[in-house]
Amino acid sequence: MLPGVATEREVRNLERERARSALKRCGAEKDLARLAKAVQLSLGYVPPRAIPLLAERVGLDVEAVTSRLESEGGILLEPDCRQRIEICSGKTCARRGGAKLIRQARSTLGIDLFRETPDQRVRIEPFRCFGQCARAPNLRVNGVVQGAMTEKRFGLFLGALARVSK
Ligand code: FES
Repeated sequence: MLPGVATEREVRNLERERARSALKRCGAEKDLARLAKAVQLSLGYVPPRAIPLLAERVGLDVEAVTSRLESEGGILLEPDCRQRIEICSGKTCARRGGAKLIRQARSTLGIDLFRETPDQRVRIEPFRCFGQCARAPNLRVNGVVQGAMTEKRFGLFLGALARVSK
């Protein structure tokens, strides 16, 4: 489990480690779809960082794996949720309250980073700098960056999401 603040490297490493563990649990399996589904089970979808691992495992190049997964039924290359909340874990945001926002999201929704609520409505992820540090702390909901986020404002938003998700 990540602490409140995740650096870009930690996020990358965590995703990669989870994907690697999922592949390890597959033993000698070489079927791309089965391997991708194992990664998806662990991370909720098959993130771009897992594609090179899959490619290496099945002996194809990254482009070939991506194109096969795109045409494979049941494989998600994007998270499947209605609300995707990315909370900036960059230095400026973390210092100005972003770390608390990550903890708040995890405890209010009862899920860890890279996870969705059981009804698939909400997913939370850290993100390393949206390039809008002047408005820190920032988070992004479904692609829209919301700056100067306060715990109170975020709490109201999360509370509404948590109620809908129960
Ligand atoms: S550190 Fe958060 S937007 Fe730059």
